Amino acid sequence: MDTIATLDLTYQSGFGNHFATEALAGALPKGRNSPQKAPYGLYAEQLSGTAFTAPRDSNRRTWTYRIRPSVVHKPFRPLDNGRLRTAPIGDGRISPNQLRWDPIPIPAAPTDFVDGLVTMGANGDAASHSGIGIHLYVANKSMQDRFMFSADGELLIVPQQGRLQIHTEMGAMEVSPVEICVIPRGVKFRVDLPDGESRGYICENYGAFLRLPNLGPIGSNGLANPRDFQTPDARYEDRDGAFELVCKFGGNLWSADINHSPLDVVAWHGNCAPYKYDLADFMVIGTVSFDHPDPSIFTVLTSPTASAGVANLDFAIFPPRWMVGEDTFRPPWFHRNIMSEFMGLVTGSYDAKIGGFVPGGSSLHNSMAAHGPDAGSFEGASNAELVPEQYKGSMAFMFETCLPIRTTKFANEAAELQDDYFECWQDMPKNFRDTP
Ligand SMILES: [Fe+2]
Repeated sequence: MDTIATLDLTYQSGFGNHFATEALAGALPKGRNSPQKAPYGLYAEQLSGTAFTAPRDSNRRTWTYRIRPSVVHKPFRPLDNGRLRTAPIGDGRISPNQLRWDPIPIPAAPTDFVDGLVTMGANGDAASHSGIGIHLYVANKSMQDRFMFSADGELLIVPQQGRLQIHTEMGAMEVSPVEICVIPRGVKFRVDLPDGESRGYICENYGAFLRLPNLGPIGSNGLANPRDFQTPDARYEDRDGAFELVCKFGGNLWSADINHSPLDVVAWHGNCAPYKYDLADFMVIGTVSFDHPDPSIFTVLTSPTASAGVANLDFAIFPPRWMVGEDTFRPPWFHRNIMSEFMGLVTGSYDAKIGGFVPGGSSLHNSMAAHGPDAGSFEGASNAELVPEQYKGSMAFMFETCLPIRTTKFANEAAELQDDYFECWQDMPKNFRDTP
């Protein structure tokens, strides 16, 4: 694996967040973005992740210096979408019910990362650059002579089983369970699976790019710290041959022949780049007196909308931590939310459910769908001795989004959909009494 260096994701100014890396000494032009002749006979090509005129604190672009420009490929032709879907989903359904799924099995037949994409739901409209798509991947084979990019959104990847070796235009990242990575819209990549059978979650963010949340009164440190985000050093492939470039655009997959590896960037500079983050580096903040904060206190990355404080996507985690609240019901409380909450579990167990929500599984509580701890968890937490307790060995996460999620036909009809999920609340006792 290449050396990983740090990318400052805060972008508080137009200066100081510039990332520069070269695989060959002197491959980055000095003082020019597009000199008349780039070093080593490379082509200069800019990737604009935001509009040219986006303000400096939200402007993302990268200059690449590559063996061939990206325009060198044969025309795209339609490719079977398999189980991949994009908002707006035509044959889906927005359900008011609590939904939960067992893990989707990893196929026995050879399946690579692209063919293993399965969409569970989506909201918004990819063509309007709003909303998200929620996918799983179930795969067992490395992508061979095949590359992909999504023009519909950036990809937030949450591995649950098996490492991913992701080779991108900007370099390579190895991402293990309990780590995450983000691949910007348009960045080409291929995925190797060193552990074979692999599964994980993906949020395809059609909206504004993910960034660190503001910290308000928390101050300048805490939650996900900028220094822990890592982006790869430049590495290039100088390979000619018969390759396939898969593009996700307008909700469909497309395929083009390409006679060379498109991962041929020898040097690059800028701030539109893939990055990875180890969730174990998240500095957890919570109550040290009573009650506990809203789960937004666990936000790792956020994609804002034009409405202040309303996220197109919040990626929040429920990591190992100490729980010390006095006179407090410590698990997540009963809840109804205008936002919609899709949850996954990377490892361990979730403290609001005794069973049924297992690693690789998923749940969805759409806007205003009542949810909360199951009867057993409520009973246990209501009577627990409130000594300091270490909650460890688990990593759950949530994709929280401002619009209801339309689940796909696949998700609605999957054998893994738990028809009896609602039962976990049916034996909630009536504890009310009209005497003190
Ligand atoms: Fe909730």
